[in-house]
Amino acid sequence: APSGRLSGRTVVITAGGTREPLDPVRYLGNRSSGKQGIALALEAAAQGAEVTLITGIIDAELPPELPGNLTRQSVETAHQLQQAVLGAAEHADMLIMAAAVADFRPAEYAQAKIKKSEGGENPVITLERNPDILADLVRRRNSSGRGPGVIVGFAAETGDEGTDPLDLAQQKLLRKGCELLVFNRVGEDLVFGQDQTEVHILASFGAQGVLGEAEPVHVTGSKQEAASAVVARAAQ
Ligand code: C5P
Repeated sequence: APSGRLSGRTVVITAGGTREPLDPVRYLGNRSSGKQGIALALEAAAQGAEVTLITGIIDAELPPELPGNLTRQSVETAHQLQQAVLGAAEHADMLIMAAAVADFRPAEYAQAKIKKSEGGENPVITLERNPDILADLVRRRNSSGRGPGVIVGFAAETGDEGTDPLDLAQQKLLRKGCELLVFNRVGEDLVFGQDQTEVHILASFGAQGVLGEAEPVHVTGSKQEAASAVVARAAQ
């Protein structure tokens, strides 16, 4: 592994979206491309960490040859992602949850393709909650004292009328209990799949003491530039 500020550290990074099957041919998914998570993994590897990159569904190119200190695992559903994260994060120093995890999955999986019938009723899809992988991991760590010392969450907000998205991000940081939260604005033409991004990196109250700064770090630029700022902040 190259030497850098993460030499000797183990880092787990999730990227991309999850896919929740409805029947053998259909699923619920989202627009995450995985670009930001991949950029984070490459940056952490360049900083010398042993990196596990767990990808859901991605719509971005990985370099044809991955660095020797980066291993990749692929998953599809939120449940599979959770299993992979729990396994990999147990002995990790840092976890960065950049994946867009489906909050809900179809409550029932149809073993055979759902069919339309002439004059029949339209099917109704009932959803159930997926586990919150990030919040669960923080809780486990805090109660067992084992697990990554630095946990970084992401918040993609569309910015609803009348609410300051940074306030929402601050609340999410508290709710999830992680050390850092990377906030970015999303919309159909914003951020998803794009190379440019705008992020605010918020630190929890506890982390602010260590970092010695209360102000969120603000980065406008490529996802590579954002990745380097997030990894630098997390390494601090
Ligand atoms: O609650 P929300 O989905 O906005 O939170 C986003 C953050 O939580 C991201 O870091 C995402 O990876 C993580 N998350 C999770 N499990 C879920 C939903 C989101 O770990 N079921």
